[in-house]
Amino acid sequence: MRIAIIYSSKTGNTKMIAEWIKENLQKEDIVYFGNPTEELPNADIYIIGSWTDKGNATNDIVEALKKIKNKKIAYFGTAGFGGSEEYYKKLFERVKVNIDSSNEILGYFYCQGKMPMQVKERYEQMIIQNPEDAHLKVAIENFDEASIHPDEEDKNNVKTWVECNILNKSLL
Ligand SMILES: Cc1cc2nc3c(=O)[nH]c(=O)nc-3n(C[C@H](O)[C@H](O)[C@H](O)COP(=O)(O)O)c2cc1C
Repeated sequence: MRIAIIYSSKTGNTKMIAEWIKENLQKEDIVYFGNPTEELPNADIYIIGSWTDKGNATNDIVEALKKIKNKKIAYFGTAGFGGSEEYYKKLFERVKVNIDSSNEILGYFYCQGKMPMQVKERYEQMIIQNPEDAHLKVAIENFDEASIHPDEEDKNNVKTWVECNILNKSLL
């Protein structure tokens, strides 16, 4: 089984997940590891990942997903506002519409990913104007929670996900 790991990462969180996935597939035939290219590498399994940009995968990843037919696909992502399976499910539902029904979806994985400090600075400016804004308080708490991810626990979760969703389902 030839495996292509294709990802989009702006600040390195999603790239870190991609590297952890690769580490757990050391014995397998990884034919490609990197950003999406105009012509997709030929593989049997596509492990595709993106950071979350305004609620969706990045355009280059969406375009890559649309091109894949009759293959196995596993999806991974990072998101700033994370921590809840329900949120991740919603994000994946949005990504999934770009996957052709001829493919087999092996599963999806998300974890939280730290956001740039400017985001927190903006929240802090806003809360000076509206000190009682409950949404802003939650957003700042969430920013702090995200700032330590991806972490060791996420790394372990990646390992389990690769074992259960990729190795067990498709390669053994
Ligand atoms: C312009 C921009 C838009 C974002 N939109 C969302 C979003 O809609 N939902 C979310 O959960 N996180 C959002 N984030 C947070 C990133 O998805 C998150 O920090 C991610 O881990 C970044 O991954 P990377 O380091 O691989 O680029 C956004 C970040 C930026 C910079």
